[in-house]
Amino acid sequence: MDTSIVDVVIGMQYGDEGKGKIANQMAQSGDYDYVVRFNGGGNAGHTIYLNGEKIVTHLVPCGVLHGVPSVIGNGCVINTKKLFEELEYLEGLGFDTSILKIAENAHIITQDHIDEDSKDTTIGTTRTGNGPCYKDKVGRTGIRAKDVPELQPYLVDMYSLIHSSPRKFLAEGAQGYWLDIDFGDYPYVTSSNTGVGAVLNNGFNYRQVWNVVGVIKCYSTYVGAKGYQKDDERFEQLREIGQEYGATTGRARQIDWLDLDEVNVACKMNGVDFLIINKMDVLRQVDSAWNLYEDQMVVSCSDENSFMQRIEKYLDSSIEIEFQGQLH
Ligand code: IMP
Ligand code: MG
Repeated sequence: MDTSIVDVVIGMQYGDEGKGKIANQMAQSGDYDYVVRFNGGGNAGHTIYLNGEKIVTHLVPCGVLHGVPSVIGNGCVINTKKLFEELEYLEGLGFDTSILKIAENAHIITQDHIDEDSKDTTIGTTRTGNGPCYKDKVGRTGIRAKDVPELQPYLVDMYSLIHSSPRKFLAEGAQGYWLDIDFGDYPYVTSSNTGVGAVLNNGFNYRQVWNVVGVIKCYSTYVGAKGYQKDDERFEQLREIGQEYGATTGRARQIDWLDLDEVNVACKMNGVDFLIINKMDVLRQVDSAWNLYEDQMVVSCSDENSFMQRIEKYLDSSIEIEFQGQLH
């Protein structure tokens, strides 16, 4: 290997697909020198079960849970106070957080950003200051990590990290492709790019992108202000059984059947090699729930097997598909 390479984990829906679980499985394989978060901020909530214990992270990459050096990349936005709280929480659980690094050109969320975000009533944001911070970044009035004294010990320059010697990276995405600022359902989106392009904007060149792993659930969820869920008792059941409540805000997620067209587009736009389909054990517990959308029409499958076959037939045959349950 004469250059660094990066494997990427991306959500193909509206976030909460179980990326945390997959990135965690990959990070603990021992294959990676670094885990990098490449977009978003504390709006994300990654739920990971480790040795039976539930751990929720927001900004810190999952590598820290496995002793793998980890980086908050320049595509991310950082609430310094929340970051230190998260580090303290992880240290309290026995993890060594001294292996965390922060891109010197990542942007900082201020109290003004949080105040502005807290006035939002139309998008249903997580009120973490995310959007206003990216607004200042693009408006060239932002504050960067290198401007903050408390962050000096953590700073890293992405060019040296990636290009000074060959290393193997795992890039852990936040949110999902349909929340992407450009390609999502604007304005009901987050304020960053959530797809594979965002990885390149953290300093990787296109040749370095290796495997792209897409993650979905076998049904859809969305959290935010637009009306998304239709009236159907089975969605209420799925919410309870799948515990579909926000890891960051506790809000109830709206539920719908799996949309294969959405997944298909997201796979193509991100060059997905592997697709993980999560929470099969949840869908199994609801009667007559093996449903999905094809061309905006609901298709009801007779059983789990025909549901799986339908998905495999619909998506590009080069994609390697794996079905999983909630925990593994
Ligand atoms: P923001 O990212 O806080 O600005 O929120 C914009 C939209 O993205 C809202 O609909 C949020 O609920 C949604 N969102 C942001 N982060 C996540 C996430 O990690 N999971 C699911 N939805 C998210
Ligand atoms: Mg989440």
